[in-house]
Amino acid sequence: MLNFELYNPTNLVFGKGQIEKLSNLVPQGAKILLAYGGGSIFKNGIHQQVINALKGFEIVEFGGIEPNPHFETLMKAVAVIKEEKIDFILAVGGGSVIDGVKFISAAVHFDGNPIDILQKRVLTKDVSKIIPFGTVLTLPATGSEMNSGGVVTIESTQEKLSFGGSALFPKFSICDPTVIESLPKRQLQNGVVDAYTHVLEQYLTYPHEGYLQDRIAESILQTLIQVGPDVVEKPTDYALASNFMWSCTMALNGLIQKGVPSDWATHMIGHELTALYGIDHARTLAVVGPNLYRVMFETKKGKLAQYGKRIFNLTGTEHEIANEAINKTVEFFHTMGMETKLSDYTKEFDKTADFIVNRFEERGWLGLGEKQNITLEKVKSIVEMSY
Ligand code: NZQ
Ligand code: ZN
Repeated sequence: MLNFELYNPTNLVFGKGQIEKLSNLVPQGAKILLAYGGGSIFKNGIHQQVINALKGFEIVEFGGIEPNPHFETLMKAVAVIKEEKIDFILAVGGGSVIDGVKFISAAVHFDGNPIDILQKRVLTKDVSKIIPFGTVLTLPATGSEMNSGGVVTIESTQEKLSFGGSALFPKFSICDPTVIESLPKRQLQNGVVDAYTHVLEQYLTYPHEGYLQDRIAESILQTLIQVGPDVVEKPTDYALASNFMWSCTMALNGLIQKGVPSDWATHMIGHELTALYGIDHARTLAVVGPNLYRVMFETKKGKLAQYGKRIFNLTGTEHEIANEAINKTVEFFHTMGMETKLSDYTKEFDKTADFIVNRFEERGWLGLGEKQNITLEKVKSIVEMSY
């Protein structure tokens, strides 16, 4: 097993009715920026619940953080924070609002142009330089509620870039599984597939000695396969909703990544597809992931075979099981309502591979994946196979 440090200071408050605890979680006397997205929180009553729970606090609201949040929008919130002398930010929303708030938190006191947080990937490590924040999660998917990373789109350059740092963990996150009742089916499907792929990014590498991490990863996959198809149909079922939500958090709160190699190339390529075509994050992963496993088959064969045996009970030679495991993954994505070809989403895809390869080259991303052997040539093959 590789050496590791496990640091995760987020106070995760999980369960029904937990939004009521907000007044104990937010620092006493803080002036709060309540940040939210396009307004779903008004329709489903979560905004009202938050306001009720925060009686007596001074609150300034900032709405309009879009899915795949834009740098340009978030900088408006930075200006509000400076003007209003805000002490604490409360993100009420899904991954986009939470990621947006992480960026805002890092940008307010950033020394220089905050665009460097994204383009130069300047890490945010100094807790004295951030605006502390908490979250009320409304969409299980990204794990952003319990990790210190985020992804922001620069609209002017059509770039979707990740950022993060140890100072960017939420102080607390309230995860009430009943919030999923108002989610559109498409977003529920996205949540399952995003979380599932987060596990695969950290699991489908090569055989190693992190036996416990493998078993935890496999149990998250099994739970998502068990509850995913049903929770989409019955989001009011609390057993389904709570297991779905907890699986999503566990998939990307850092635990299963400790002491083991990880890949993340599916996400890096997928982010380009969202930046170029606006395809939902999870759906880009369903397009790219299986083709990445095909192109990188020799590197990933051992782990694909373990995945095939333990998750899908497949039998045969290592080669056969590994191959069939990819087919089973595609089948699961189809069950979850995903289209798995780029041409299902856009008709203008013929130059996509070259565009992405050029971008990666400009950024110096010449070798991705757990062995850094996903070269630009391989990226080209993966994207072309995804057409
Ligand atoms: O904006 P509102 O009106 O709130 O509507 C949202 C949005 O339109 C809606 N929604 C959220 N909760 C709802 C609801 N509608 C009804 N009822 C509710 N309870 O759902 C839509 C999508 O929301 P969004 O936050 O964009 O979705 P998600 O949570 O999937 O987040 C996706 C973003 O997270 C990034 C992605 O790249 C993407 O930008 N990721 C963040 C990660 C992280 N921080 O660790 C890791 C992930 O891999 C991912 O890259
Ligand atoms: Zn993701």
